[in-house]
This record gives sequence, C-alpha cells and structure tokens, in this order.
Amino acid sequence: MVFLIIILLLIGFLTYKFYKFYRKLSVLKNVPTISFLNVLIHLITKAGPDNRWRYSREILENEGIAKFWFNGEWVLLVTDLELAKDIVTKSDLYVKATLEESYPGTLFGRFYGTNVVMSNGDVWRRHRRIANPAFKNLPIHVFVESAMKLLTVMERVDNKPIEVKNLMHRLTLDVLGKAAFGFDFNNLEDPNNNYVTAYNEVMEELSNPWYLLIPFLRYFPRTEALKKIEKLNNLYDGIVENKRQSMKLGELKEKLNNHSADLLEYMIQACNDPENQTLTNEELRYNVAIFMLAGHDTTANALTTILYLLAVHKDAQKKVRDEILRVLGDDLVPSKEQQKELKYMDMVINENLRLYPPIAQLPRRLPLQDVKFRDHVIPAKTPIILFIYGIHHSSKNWEDPEKFIPERFENEKHNHTWFSFGGGNRLCLGTNFSLIEQRIILCALLRKYEVSLPENSIHKDKLKIAHANSGTMGPHPIPLIFKRRTE
Ligand code: HEM
Repeated sequence: MVFLIIILLLIGFLTYKFYKFYRKLSVLKNVPTISFLNVLIHLITKAGPDNRWRYSREILENEGIAKFWFNGEWVLLVTDLELAKDIVTKSDLYVKATLEESYPGTLFGRFYGTNVVMSNGDVWRRHRRIANPAFKNLPIHVFVESAMKLLTVMERVDNKPIEVKNLMHRLTLDVLGKAAFGFDFNNLEDPNNNYVTAYNEVMEELSNPWYLLIPFLRYFPRTEALKKIEKLNNLYDGIVENKRQSMKLGELKEKLNNHSADLLEYMIQACNDPENQTLTNEELRYNVAIFMLAGHDTTANALTTILYLLAVHKDAQKKVRDEILRVLGDDLVPSKEQQKELKYMDMVINENLRLYPPIAQLPRRLPLQDVKFRDHVIPAKTPIILFIYGIHHSSKNWEDPEKFIPERFENEKHNHTWFSFGGGNRLCLGTNFSLIEQRIILCALLRKYEVSLPENSIHKDKLKIAHANSGTMGPHPIPLIFKRRTE
C-alpha cells in the first residue's frame, strides 16, 4: 500500500513537472534555447562564466535573450541592453527572487535568511535604511592595518612565487570580519585556525553543486552541514548580542564619534533611531552573513585578476606605479584627496572589473507581471538572469572586448554597458568599500614590488577562470612573482 502511494505521488510529481515544462515552453517558444547538455556540463565541471559565454554567445549577440532548463524550470539569460536597463531600474517590477525561491529547501535560505541583498519592496527598504549609514562611514583604518599585515606576511616568502588567489581571499576575509563586525579571523597570519575553517566549511556546504542540480536531494537531512552552520551562526549571534549590550551601556559612543565603528555597530545605532523601523538580532545576523558573502570573494577575485593583468601588462603596471609615486610621495596610504588623483589606477580597476566581473550574472529577477520584450511575452514569475559577463564581452558593446584597454574609461563612464556593481536603486552598497580597499592594497603592493607571471604559469596564454564557492567568479589559483623594488 505504502509502495503504491509512493508510486502515485512520484507520478503526480513528474506529471506536474512535465506540465510546467511544456506550458512555459509553449509561451517562450520563440526564445532560442541553450542546450541542457551544455548547462549540465557547465554545472558539473563548475565551469566559469567564460564557458557559459562561449556556448551562448552566438544566440545572445543576435537575440539578446535565451532560455535554458535549470532546476525544474525555464530560466532566461539576458544581455539585451534595453531589457538590462529596465531590469536594474524597475526594481519593483523585476523583483529579486528570494533565496528560498531561487534555491527552495536548500541551506542558502537557512544561512542568509532575509537580508538587504535578497529582499524586495518595503522589507528591502527597511534593511537598506539601516545599512545605508554604515556604508557612509567606512572603517578605512581596517583596510590600512590589513594592507600592512599583508606586507609583513609577504615579507616572509622568500623570492618564491606567491599564490595570490588564496592570499587575496585571506586578506579580504580579515578585512570583512573586522569591518563588518569587528572580528579578526586572522586568516592572513593563521589560515588554518578554527574560525577560518568553520567559515570555509560552511561556504563549501552551501555551494555543493549536487543540491542545486538535483532538487530531490534536498529531502535528505544534512545533519553535518547544519551543525557547521549552527556553529558559525552562534559566533555571529554572540557578537550581535554583545554589541547590542555595549550600545545600551554607551560603550560604543567614542567609536561612533571618531568613525572607527564597524558596519554592525552603525547598523545597531541606526536601529535605535526612532525614525527607522528596527531590525531584529536575527536579521542583523543575516545581514552580517550576506556582507561577508557580498564583499569577501568579490573583492578578493577583483584584486587577484587585477594583479594578474598588471603582471602580464608591464607597461600598465609601470604607469600605475609612476602615478602612485607621483601622487603619494612618501605617504604609504592614499588619503581621500589623493585617491581622487589616482586616475589611471581607477581606469585599470574599471577595465579589470569589465573583463572579469566578480559577479558575472545578477541574482534572478522574477517579473511581477507579464512583460513584453520585442515579439516575446515573458510570463510573470519567469526567472531572469542578467548576464553581466556577456554584456561586458560582447563585441556589440565594446571594441575588441577581449583586450585589456584601460584607456576605454578615460573619458567615458559606460553606464549602460558596464554593470560590475549592478545598477538602479539596487546598486552595490559596498562599491566604495571595495574601490577604496583595492586602491589601498594596490598602493601598498606596487610601491614595494614588481609583479610578474612565472614562465610556466597555466595562465600564460589566457587567464583560466573558475567558479568560486559562493557563485562569484574568479581565476584558478595563480602564483605570481613579487620582486622587491630597489628605488
Ligand atoms: C568588487 C567587489 C564587488 C562587486 C563586483 C560587487 C557587485 C555587486 C552587484 C553586481 C550587486 C547588485 C546585485 C543585484 O542587483 O542583484 C551588489 C549588491 C550589493 N553589494 Fe556588492 N559588490 C562588491 C563588493 C561589495 C562589498 C565589499 C560589500 C559589503 C561589504 C557589498 C555589499 C553589497 C550589498 C549589501 C548589495 C545589495 C544592495 C541592495 O540590493 O540594496 N558589495 N554588489
């Protein structure tokens, strides 16, 4: 009897899935299709967005839109600029899929919950209001301390190539921990400590591709993974609670006044403002967790790829260094005013983010109503992914898109073809955080070292791109030679 019920339930489930497949297929029949095999291989091999662009380029350059079957539904991949602009500017029509909608029943929802990155409408406005002031008061001293620690750690490596992907991830985890909630992961000095291991293990569990590929697996308990998540959550919860108490006792006043507070402390302060609706401790914890995700891998990958580009393009490296020496003189760290003068460095940063956008595609949007796009009707709730990598690499938008040409950004801002930090009112909150961090690290490194790619590097002909744990994009490990300069 039980067996019969299971069979009937299974048949019912499969019939529903087939119905969903064909119903949407008939509406989207004119939208070209990316083969399922390509998508499957892409996922299993954890390939990067360059691979996705390779197999979808022809369709996307011609049509600006394509569909593929993923995780039990049709998903649209978009590079059309008009539609892209609509998606980022009309955020109340193209709402973001919540984590539970994108990955139902997976651990993502459990770990990141409702936060400023993945919410919509009034909930998002409430979170953003609390988070906004924190990003206006950036803890620059954290960037500087970490840059100095980075130099000390590098000092100990004797003339051997240094693997920069790992090094930059260690650096930015330390920066994020301290800047977001005043916690020192000490990943630069001690990469195998308990906290770093706990964080890395949770990231591994969350990005396990099998659970994304085979939705059915979610129905099996993941006791071990849940234990790891709980351990990290307990750490975050303890910190949130302590800071709430310190705020009540007035212990944070001085830090807030002299702009040395962390993002969490500014958020708790904003929660106490009677003008704002508050966030619960759990919501604060979800935001801290999502800042770690949004700010750690992204900036680490950006720093890694920029160092690679400078190692390969020695002329650009010299220009950036000459600019640093001219603008900074004897100063080690660029002030706010000096940063404005690092114009060539900013062009290189922008070009790096164009070639290797750390967020290669925006999280899914689900239109609230049917949307007309050319001669297609996109049914409400169809998942749409804005493919930033595709927009940045299309020869329709950029001349010689595969070439590194920082001067493209000399006079133009390229607002409509450059989406590295997203756009509209959902523009990245951490844009300045990341740009200042990158400038400070580049100043520290390039003043002291000449960077080059080893002769036998696997990246000799082309940067080999991987899929990073959190779904951001970055290169495979990349050892670089740092030769101390003699001034
Ligand atoms: C190179 C580094 C970074 C890149 C490329 C990047 C990219 C992006 C992109 C593309 C979005 C838009 C997502 C969307 O529209 O769905 C975004 C949003 C966001 N980013 Fe970043 N990000 C970076 C660094 C950071 C850092 C360092 C932080 C925080 C410490 C941060 C916090 C956020 C937040 C909170 C949002 C959500 C804003 C909202 O929806 O209101 N990001 N980021």
